[in-house]
Amino acid sequence: MTAMTPAQLTDEVLAEYARAPDPRLRELLTALVGHLHAFSAETRLTQREWEAAIAFLTATGHKCDAERQEFILLSDVLGLSSLVDVINSAPGATESTVLGPFYVPGAPRRAMGEQIGRPQDGSPALVRGRVTDVSGRPLDAATLDVWQTAGNGLYDTQDPDQPRFNLRGVFVTGPDGRYEFRTVRPVSYPIPTDGPVGDLLRNAGRHHWRAAHIHAIVSAPAHRSVTTHIFDADNPYLTSDAVFGVKDSLIKPFRPPTPADPSDVTSVVDMDFTLSPADP
Ligand SMILES: [Fe+2]
Repeated sequence: MTAMTPAQLTDEVLAEYARAPDPRLRELLTALVGHLHAFSAETRLTQREWEAAIAFLTATGHKCDAERQEFILLSDVLGLSSLVDVINSAPGATESTVLGPFYVPGAPRRAMGEQIGRPQDGSPALVRGRVTDVSGRPLDAATLDVWQTAGNGLYDTQDPDQPRFNLRGVFVTGPDGRYEFRTVRPVSYPIPTDGPVGDLLRNAGRHHWRAAHIHAIVSAPAHRSVTTHIFDADNPYLTSDAVFGVKDSLIKPFRPPTPADPSDVTSVVDMDFTLSPADP
């Protein structure tokens, strides 16, 4: 009798998963097993390292609750969320980027132009633009679900001093596809480092700052929705965003208002969104 080799074991496991009846599940599982096994064999993973990995994933799960998604944060800092975005991007549409762990469904519908935050949340900004299809036609009844942090770098869900749904809102376009809302100029903020993902970043020697941004999910009837950001062009973290979310096309200047703009804001940003047709 000779001892089992890693390759023999891998083949044995792959043969089991190759019997999964669903073809896509079979493809995913056999690729996952193959890559996991190859990773472990290549790095000569030790028993202790395997135990540490299990403990890390267990702690990641324990850190999750209704408003904190440590697994999404883990996916984000590993660049996996951005990779899935890039793989699935729709040609001609606004580039997508990470959802992030702070999206909360059910934000209030607001009137066009309405302020989504409070005066004390930061420097007043006007965000506006158009939602169109890939040929430039304005999209009626397009929905923008937007959210961001206050000037203290915290989302409402992280900050007991902010009212629920502060700096969040849903806007619906008319036939001209135009939207606008008042908010505050976004700031860089640290991603949460009080959980296992924070330990990972520290051990990897990476910083934990996100380039300043406003989140948006833009959708319209018969079109593919886009989950994206508007990034502030004047931000030091655009080239080292902790979650690899920055794309050049999403970087916009927050410019000073001109005499044609409202006088009660300190910056104006123009951002158009383009949606591709829904899959048949
Ligand atoms: Fe964010």
